[in-house]
Amino acid sequence: MYQLIDGKAISTALKEELKGKVDALKAQGVEPCLAVILVGEDPASTVYVNNKKKACEFIGIKSLSYELPESTTQDELLALIDKLNADDGVNGILVQLPLPKHIDEDAVIQAISPKKDVDGFHPQSVGALCIGQKGFVSCTPAGIIELLKRSNVEIEGKECVIIGRSNIVGKPMSLLMLRENATVTVCHSRTKNLKEVTKRADILIVAIGKPKMITAEYVKEGAVVIDVGIHRLEGKKLCGDVDFDTVAEHTSMITPVPGGVGPMTIAMLMKNCVDSVTM
Ligand code: GUN
Repeated sequence: MYQLIDGKAISTALKEELKGKVDALKAQGVEPCLAVILVGEDPASTVYVNNKKKACEFIGIKSLSYELPESTTQDELLALIDKLNADDGVNGILVQLPLPKHIDEDAVIQAISPKKDVDGFHPQSVGALCIGQKGFVSCTPAGIIELLKRSNVEIEGKECVIIGRSNIVGKPMSLLMLRENATVTVCHSRTKNLKEVTKRADILIVAIGKPKMITAEYVKEGAVVIDVGIHRLEGKKLCGDVDFDTVAEHTSMITPVPGGVGPMTIAMLMKNCVDSVTM
């Protein structure tokens, strides 16, 4: 019988803890403040940004909202980031991605001060993670570490296989698992004999972006499976990259979709915002 890793419950517990920390900061006269920038009206991004603002409200973090038109130029966006970098009242800056095509995402990410980079996307943050120095860590992989630890999954010495090598999930995930002393393998679209590799995993982390691609043949009996994917099927039901209905019974623990990794991403963003006060 497998155990469900309840990301909703774990994220709620984390947010309650953060609320306590923010209350303590406020008692000392410090109010954490996150600036959230959205360019354009992409429906998914609008939902994500609203959820981030709601989480701030729940925890007691002040949020400043900048909803800019699609026609915003790169220079205008960079000027806003410069202003927010220089504002001592702002601790964290989040620019929702993707940006409109006429704006260079890398230039925007690099413009954010590493001290306010609550997404952990700045090259300095990524470099710090790579060499084990202090810095912000990308929220989804950081949330997965939190899920594993709070579910008492032993990481040290375990075979961890990650499918996906994106800058936001796969790559930082591999560095975090390495930091936790796992033996780490990163697979991707050009990996040969994928099933043979994933079958070795004690901990399998899936971030490929293909609905239900991972079936039971990819999973070792008793493995811990973490599903980062989220897709809306016809009929509106949500599913992950893992075919939950056939895989779950072969695992010892698995995250559901929805209610697994997703809620942890926002909770870790909130943690980064609280940490940004002392960065
Ligand atoms: N778009 C999709 N995920 C993210 C995220 O974690 N941060 C930002 N800024 N944009 C995103």
